Amino acid sequence: KARVAVLISGTGSNMAALLYASRRADCPYEIVLVASNNPDAGGLALAKAEGVATFALPHKGMKRPEHDAAMDEALREAGADYVALAGYMRILTPEFVGKWEGRMVNIHPSLLPRYKGLDTHARAIQAGDAHGGCSVHLVTAELDDGPILGQTPVAILPGDTPDTLAARVLFAEHQLYARALEELVSRPYRADWLLQQVNAIALSLPEAE
Ligand code: GAR
Repeated sequence: KARVAVLISGTGSNMAALLYASRRADCPYEIVLVASNNPDAGGLALAKAEGVATFALPHKGMKRPEHDAAMDEALREAGADYVALAGYMRILTPEFVGKWEGRMVNIHPSLLPRYKGLDTHARAIQAGDAHGGCSVHLVTAELDDGPILGQTPVAILPGDTPDTLAARVLFAEHQLYARALEELVSRPYRADWLLQQVNAIALSLPEAE
C-alpha cells in the first residue's frame, strides 16, 4: 500500500475521513503519520487514539524554511510516499513543495480556480454563486493553483451563512478527498503527466513584463 502522511492544523475531519477510508481492506493507501504545526490540533489526539504515529512542531519562533525542513525530515522518517494537506494552514516553501512534487495534494473549500486563499464560502455567497464546493489538487509552488484532481459542487441555499455552507461542503470534502487520494496513488503517472502539461504551458507563455 502507498504510505501517506497527513498534515493538519486544526480539527482534522478530513484527516479522519482519509484515515477511516484507509481502513477498508481494498484501500490502496495507508496513513503512516499525522503531523501538525499546532500541538493542540484536535486531529492529533484522534490519530493517536487510532494508533497512528503523530508529530507536532509549533512554527512559532522558527523560520519557514527551517520548519518545513523539520517537517520534511519527519515525513521521510515515517517512510511517506505521499503527503496530503488537510486544513494545513501554513504556506509552504518552494523547496518543500519541490521535494514532494506530484506526490503532494491539498483540499481546498471552493471550486478552484475561484476563491483561492481564505474566506471562500463568504466570498461565494457574496458573489451570488449558485454553488460553492471543494477541490482536490496537486500542490505546486503557487498557492491553491496546481492541477485539479477532482471537484464537488455544493448548492448554496437561500439563507446560507458561511458556516452553514461550510458544514455541507465538509461532507463533500470527506467523500472527494478519500476518492481522489485513492486514484492518485493508484495512478501516480497521471500526476506526473498533469504537471508536465502545466510546465509546458508555462514555458510556452511569453515572459511576464
Ligand atoms: C477544510 O474545510 C479544508 O478544506 C480547509 O480547512 C478545513 C479543515 O477542516 N482548508 C483550507 O482552507 C486550506 N486553505 P478539517 O481540519 O476538519 O479537515
